[in-house]
Amino acid sequence: MKLPMDDLISELLKEVSPPYLANKDWEPGKPVYYSGPYWDNKELKVTLKSLLGGKWLPAGEEVSRFERKFSKKFNKKHSLMVNSGSSANLIMFSALKKRYGWQDGDEIIVSCVGFPTTIAPIVQCGLTPVFVDIDFSDLNWDVSQIEDKISLRTRGVISSPVLANPYNYDQILDICERNKIKLIADNCDALGSKWRGKYLTDHAIAASCSFYPAHHICTGEGGMVSSDDEELIRIARTLAWWGRDCYCVGAQNKLADGVCTKRFSKWIEKYDGIIDHKYVYTQMGYNLKPLDFQGAVGCVQIDKFEDIHQKRRTNKKLVQKHFEKIPGIRSVEELPHAEASWFGVPIICDSKDTKNRLTKHLEDNKVQTRNYFAGNLLMHPGYSHLDYYKNYPNSCKVLDLVFFVGCSPTITEPMIDYIGTVTSKFKK
Ligand SMILES: Cc1ncc(COP(=O)(O)O)c(C=O)c1O
Repeated sequence: MKLPMDDLISELLKEVSPPYLANKDWEPGKPVYYSGPYWDNKELKVTLKSLLGGKWLPAGEEVSRFERKFSKKFNKKHSLMVNSGSSANLIMFSALKKRYGWQDGDEIIVSCVGFPTTIAPIVQCGLTPVFVDIDFSDLNWDVSQIEDKISLRTRGVISSPVLANPYNYDQILDICERNKIKLIADNCDALGSKWRGKYLTDHAIAASCSFYPAHHICTGEGGMVSSDDEELIRIARTLAWWGRDCYCVGAQNKLADGVCTKRFSKWIEKYDGIIDHKYVYTQMGYNLKPLDFQGAVGCVQIDKFEDIHQKRRTNKKLVQKHFEKIPGIRSVEELPHAEASWFGVPIICDSKDTKNRLTKHLEDNKVQTRNYFAGNLLMHPGYSHLDYYKNYPNSCKVLDLVFFVGCSPTITEPMIDYIGTVTSKFKK
């Protein structure tokens, strides 16, 4: 007998419900990964349904549904899903440059500590990154240095709070307003973080996000660009979809005449005839589209967001307590108006030797650790031509003294107790 697809998938998942999901099979001695997909059978079910459903595999109705759901949840009018957070940053800068008529060499202010693909797209788009050092108390960029870096060519600042911890947003908003420059958010690590009860991205002209498994929402790979500016997202979509002019998304693709109602028209001046709008190219674009099942998974994940947010906050506190029992170790606290949706637990050591020995002790005991990404990116071969790294002395200390461990909802109470056992055995 042929079972309907939903029943078939439910039957299949009864048999194979993978024990690694949400670390149900974890026991001491198994690795404590710093993050991972916080999935259960719901995500697997929609994945299988999307793959087996016989529909178009690339971005379609599910991606379009996720874009709308994401916009609604995170207070932005429009969103575009792409295949990674790095692609989101690339498309965001490309679209901003076109939308606002920025010229090659116009400047964007950025921290020199962080993730490489916050900075690379600035350069890839012909803009110039101008760096500021960090404040070592919370590792975020030192906002007090920003105004000195503003020139006649400054168009914006790109803000990426370290491990999701908001710095003083009153200050950055004031700087942007007084100097008439744009606040752009690389929000890949900080989805859900708030300042004075509002999402950090509420204040930004455009925001990016990542759905890699280290991040709050996981679709395998994936990213999002969001904005209240419809035209900006339309340009971004064109750029991410081969440069084509057609802006039909999801089910709109099934409309015979498209959303514009004139799909088959005389679209281009240099061709005297009827042409399909889907094959009209107004930009030199890329192909950065995700797959449709990723949109379906995103829709499931977003329903879990409040749980994810609270678990990250609780886990951060519990893990931090264990580490702070070690003399000479501190983490970072939220400012009074901040609510961080922690990406990880920052650990700051009093010496390079302590950092090296502590991370080795943790790794030897299968507790995963991570550098705070690149540390000072200007030390790296791909970035050192942009500025002299020693001009940023606090940033230079990051690789020596800082690392982070996970606080993802995939880390369960027994795993946190185990982290406590491991840290208690560390001899300073
Ligand atoms: C701040 C920041 N921006 C951008 C990215 C890139 O995201 P993806 O790995 O999805 O390309 C990351 C990745 O962790 C990140 O932490």
